[in-house]
Amino acid sequence: MMHLILGDAELEIVPHPIQGHPAVVKHARIRKKKPSRILLDASYHHQAIRSKYPEEAERRGRPDIVHLFLMNAQESILNKSGLLRVYVHTRNNDVIKIRPETRLPKAYHRFVGLMEHVFQNRYVPDKENPLLYLEKMSLPALAKECGGKIVVLSEHGRKVSLGKYEIPKNVTFIIGGFPSGDFLTNINFADDIISIHSETLMAWVAAYEIIAEYERRYLDELTGGN
Ligand SMILES: C[S@@+](CC[C@H](N)C(=O)[O-])C[C@H]1O[C@@H](n2cnc3c(N)ncnc32)[C@H](O)[C@@H]1O
Repeated sequence: MMHLILGDAELEIVPHPIQGHPAVVKHARIRKKKPSRILLDASYHHQAIRSKYPEEAERRGRPDIVHLFLMNAQESILNKSGLLRVYVHTRNNDVIKIRPETRLPKAYHRFVGLMEHVFQNRYVPDKENPLLYLEKMSLPALAKECGGKIVVLSEHGRKVSLGKYEIPKNVTFIIGGFPSGDFLTNINFADDIISIHSETLMAWVAAYEIIAEYERRYLDELTGGN
């Protein structure tokens, strides 16, 4: 089984200190929702983010990264074969666990609505049989729960050739869910920190590289070629 975590993802409800900012209020009004019920989104709230969090203005409010990552991971052959488990861990230590059979909205605005629903209700569609659910957990605790070899992907990691890298059957990969900068969490708990390319990759591209590599190694063996 491969576990794949999007770590320190820039996914959050608009933080309280900027809920009254004009850019947020205007956007919430258009969406007919309270500012306290909408996702922070840099496409609409950049000025608000800059006003209160200038040092983090280039990284916060990026649900689009989470959307593209989940589209790739959930629709992969590996996931359809039942060999992948996917998680989103956020900057606030909210963890969204996603059942493999979950088909997520391809339209971005519908994905945003779904994530807002998860933050508000914790369980989607309901607590008895959730396809997605949210709990509080740190990145090291989640990785430990997933188990196997824990590998963080980072452009600052040890340079490896992915095709020759030792990937055990039970493995947890962590990819950063932010556009720039470093992990907020101290990633020293990992068994290995690796760089798989000389340039910076988008999170969803890094995700698909490792999913495809795991498929090449193990798909036939673990599914009996079916
Ligand atoms: C856009 S990058 C974030 C940029 C950041 N400066 C960093 O430390 O990688 C998003 C994520 O993709 C993965 N990634 C990007 N380039 C990579 C590379 N060359 N090797 C391994 N992982 C990479 C990392 O997990 C990274 O956190």
